[in-house]
Amino acid sequence: MRILVTGIAGYIGSNTARILMERGHELFGFDNLSRGHARVVQLLDLGDRFFLGDLNEPARLDHAITVARPEAVLHFAAYALVGESVTRPDLYWKNNFCGSLGLLEAMRLGGVKRLVFSSTCATYGIPERIPMDETLPQSPINPYGHSKLAIEKAITDYANAYGIKAASLRYFNAAGASASGDLGEDHFPESHLIPLALRAAQGVANPLCVFGTDYPTPDGTCIRDYIHVDDLAEAHLAALLHLERQPANTHEAFNLGTGRGHSVHEIISCCEKISGRTVPYTIGSRRLGDPPFLVADPGKANRDLHWSARHDLNSIVQSAWNWHKNHPNGYKMVRP
Ligand SMILES: NC(=O)c1ccc[n+]([C@@H]2O[C@H](COP(=O)([O-])OP(=O)(O)OC[C@H]3O[C@@H](n4cnc5c(N)ncnc54)[C@H](O)[C@@H]3O)[C@@H](O)[C@H]2O)c1
Repeated sequence: MRILVTGIAGYIGSNTARILMERGHELFGFDNLSRGHARVVQLLDLGDRFFLGDLNEPARLDHAITVARPEAVLHFAAYALVGESVTRPDLYWKNNFCGSLGLLEAMRLGGVKRLVFSSTCATYGIPERIPMDETLPQSPINPYGHSKLAIEKAITDYANAYGIKAASLRYFNAAGASASGDLGEDHFPESHLIPLALRAAQGVANPLCVFGTDYPTPDGTCIRDYIHVDDLAEAHLAALLHLERQPANTHEAFNLGTGRGHSVHEIISCCEKISGRTVPYTIGSRRLGDPPFLVADPGKANRDLHWSARHDLNSIVQSAWNWHKNHPNGYKMVRP
């Protein structure tokens, strides 16, 4: 299948692109490199199948679609820092929402009928119950979540009116690195627990801060559902195959997680066990709007996509450690 991947130079987009290429799909990438890495584009060996451009530049998107003639788009490109979204909602509405609208328009004009969108469990806000299935009300509590929910709604309207088939994959906490060892997680600033813990253990980042130890959880720290980036990649492939079997005008959502939660203390212990090093940490106060538990019910994805997560926490942390051990400076991009 010919597939255009937005956000291909980022963490999940690159890992997914790699796996799809290994399965024989013809991949094209679109990224403005604002938060991704030129090195990743080299590692994927995209050559002239990479288009440098911004989702808010219609001419560049149209060009990419005209040249790539994709049968499907995987849409990863976005800003994804919750804290930043609170202080700079303008960035999130412009980049995530307006950018995605630009993509939908380019797809409509270019006749591209299949879309898989990177949504998030953040669209649920503070969940009424655990584990979280897709019937929970979506009530985000920050501009990042608002922008993602608004995109889901725009996709529904475009799917209904223009014959698009779409899937929104609501990821829980993506983690881990590629089995080949060359693609890993390098955000700037990093806000995700596993890379922060491993980098603290390596001594290349500050001690980890544990935000809150007085939650109503067994050890007092927040519990999250960590899913291996390769499992997410497989879910994208499964979603593309699922869409092939669906009628036009469909937009479905799937929660992607393992269904198992791990506390911050469990993550620290696992990082220490696998790296053989101590994870230095301090204890801070709770962050506003951090729910005690966020754990997926992946039942719908298991059933309808014939997909389930294969990696457990040890496997996630082991792959992440393999990458960080060999990339203490990440992709070595020049930091702004
Ligand atoms: N990482 C997670 O745990 C997680 C969880 C839930 C959802 N998501 C979603 O998954 C997607 C990928 O996340 P990630 O961790 O790989 O992020 P990332 O920051 O590593 O990658 C995003 C990529 O998109 C590019 N990009 C951003 N805005 C763009 C624009 N306007 N035009 C062109 N390119 C643009 C960036 O340069 C970057 O390469 C995001 O949409 C994110 O919201 C991630």
